[in-house]
Amino acid sequence: MKYIVTENYEQLSALAADIIAAQVIMKPNCVLGLATGSSPVGTYRELVKKYEAGRLDFSAVRSVNLDEYVGLKGDHPQSYRFFMQDNLFNHVNIKPENTFVPCGIAANLGAECAAYDARVEAFGGIDLQLLGIGVDGHVGFNEPDEVFAKGTHVVDLLESTIQANARFFASENDVPRQALSMGIATIMKAKKILLVANGEQKREVIEQAVNGPITPKLPASVLQLHPDVTIIFSKK
Ligand code: F6R
Repeated sequence: MKYIVTENYEQLSALAADIIAAQVIMKPNCVLGLATGSSPVGTYRELVKKYEAGRLDFSAVRSVNLDEYVGLKGDHPQSYRFFMQDNLFNHVNIKPENTFVPCGIAANLGAECAAYDARVEAFGGIDLQLLGIGVDGHVGFNEPDEVFAKGTHVVDLLESTIQANARFFASENDVPRQALSMGIATIMKAKKILLVANGEQKREVIEQAVNGPITPKLPASVLQLHPDVTIIFSKK
């Protein structure tokens, strides 16, 4: 595991974007696993800058996102599809048909999850998976639990997650109660993993994930078992 501490969020974002850009340059038709949330926003901004400068070509890239709220359509401003369009997809030349986010309004959520994993398999797996981390150690929507979740699955959101995400919705009642999320096994099968975390409030969980026991009670701790993980942390 590589653990890099940067001075600030700008440096974190620039470094993360350099790593993703290297992946795209080395393998133009790579499969990128992508995350939403506040942590990767700067990374996406830097990737857009590289694209605009003519230094990156996404035309053959395929992307699979980690998660999506159940019940939100892709045009809902709080849906993760909307976030991806807004922060990355609308600004680079990735083909819309090559971008995948779990469909939170699928009639059969179980079938959607199975089809999502089958697609990742059919792509030959994820080349590089970008992750954020929650203060409780969650990755994707894999919340602290008694066992590690395997494939893409339906998650009942914890009260703490609902409260943490309420700031993005008109009221706490509007926060979806469920989400679809790649499982830990889906994430762990990625060839490379890049986790970005910033802010003093993430320091303790990063320390636990890197040096603490490997336990589903802190889902990110499983990354210690992966052969190619880079964590970039910035306290600001
Ligand atoms: C987002 C996701 C979540 C976030 C995590 C951290 O797709 O899967 O696990 O990465 O909640 O969120 P931020 O970056 O907003 O602190």
